[in-house]
Amino acid sequence: MTVSVLFVCLGNICRSPLAEAAFRLEAKRLGLGVVVDSAGTGSWHAGDPPDRRAQATARRHGVEIGHYAARQVTAADFERFDHVVALDLDNLRNLKRLAPAGGRARLSLLLDHVEGRAGQAVADPYYGDDGGFEISWADAVAGARGLAAKLKPSS
Ligand code: 4NP
Repeated sequence: MTVSVLFVCLGNICRSPLAEAAFRLEAKRLGLGVVVDSAGTGSWHAGDPPDRRAQATARRHGVEIGHYAARQVTAADFERFDHVVALDLDNLRNLKRLAPAGGRARLSLLLDHVEGRAGQAVADPYYGDDGGFEISWADAVAGARGLAAKLKPSS
């Protein structure tokens, strides 16, 4: 069984590409069949690769994300994906507004999938220093592990 997951932040150049990469790694580790993508609620960075600091952070953790290209979320995404996962509360609110009535996707917040962190946001690292990207990576990994564990078919 293949499960499809879309991670969504604001620009799709910092947090959601890291979440996409972390979830790909975790799904591979668990042998979970997945379709994974990421998108932004904003369109400013459409077509851009991830921020250099996000690329460097992913590379430090063994993942290459330089080939990812940012895109804006679309109404069709709510039909194409089983799960649409927001990185923060603003983006979750915007996704709820964009979601067509009766859409297939289940909406959630990434850190809702981590015990003790429900309702928390992955902080936007864009205007900060490199340390913020390490925190985003750690949050992305925690969320990816929690979500993947829930999606893993029980055997
Ligand atoms: P992201 O970070 O939502 O994690 O990709 C941001 C990227 C760009 C901007 C804001 C946040 N921006 O204002 O351009």
